[in-house]
Amino acid sequence: MTVTHLLNIADLGVGQINEILALSAQSVESLNAPLQGQGVALLFEKPSNRTRHSMEIAVVQLGGHPVYTMGEEVGLDVRESVEDVTKILCGYHAIVAARVFKHSFVERMAKVSTKPVINMLSDYSHPLQAFADALTMTQHVGALGDLTVAWVGDYNNVARSLTEIVLISGGRMQLGCPLGYNASPLEIERLKALGGSIEQFDNAQEAVAKAHVVHTDTWISMGQEEESSKRRKIFANFCVTEDLMSAASKGAKFMHCMPAHRDEEVSAGVFDGAASLAIEQGHNRLHSARGVMAYLKGAKQ
Ligand code: CP
Ligand code: NVA
Repeated sequence: MTVTHLLNIADLGVGQINEILALSAQSVESLNAPLQGQGVALLFEKPSNRTRHSMEIAVVQLGGHPVYTMGEEVGLDVRESVEDVTKILCGYHAIVAARVFKHSFVERMAKVSTKPVINMLSDYSHPLQAFADALTMTQHVGALGDLTVAWVGDYNNVARSLTEIVLISGGRMQLGCPLGYNASPLEIERLKALGGSIEQFDNAQEAVAKAHVVHTDTWISMGQEEESSKRRKIFANFCVTEDLMSAASKGAKFMHCMPAHRDEEVSAGVFDGAASLAIEQGHNRLHSARGVMAYLKGAKQ
């Protein structure tokens, strides 16, 4: 039996993405509790606010029971191997979800798992975030295929998953990243093959031109704390300010996966201003987490 996992957005086709987005927009009741009487394992190697809470509540809304474990308690490849942890959890749970430092850990989990594995953020990608981003843009801005979406800052896990979902949906992506923190030529080639259109710039101004939405994320991702002072200097010209927003399309929206750092990657005025969808986007993490798990449990719209 083939098990469907959610490790990366690029593993999905446009039909699957649209199905998950449609399920995310459905009422809780209409999904008929596909996790009734079942568990979902939530393993975290890193801290979380949105992902933990949205996943726990989504599991409850689908009739299931979430079990959260953090850090040393899990001890992936320390207390026991990734494979042994996964095989045991498959005997208790309907879904195994993990937030890991190394993306190879979720890949190894998926290889031995008899249950769907969900990547709750790795150093490579953050597919759950991309579903909330897509849902929010669809609700507040327009169909992804009609949008020009700008990314300003680090081409990181969140940027990669967002870019993938926009391109697969036929939209246009404009990346503005400092050299050395951008998408490599090989990565751009891979992304181009997904559909839509993509262009990369080494500055924020060109990246936001004609954009309907401007996204950013922290300059210092979890695990990069030692590079903080170096990164603050390198990214200094990549702050999303009111000035930068005025260079985007008229009425453009601002989005941020959060945690946000006011007056680093985004000015306080933009983050807390009328164009910001960050809080709605955060709230949509619940609805998209529910849509993803309903899909993995075979729910149909
Ligand atoms: N955006 C996001 O994944 O937030 P948390 O790290 O708080 O889960
Ligand atoms: N890029 C950030 C996202 C946090 C949700 C990180 O990996 O820490």
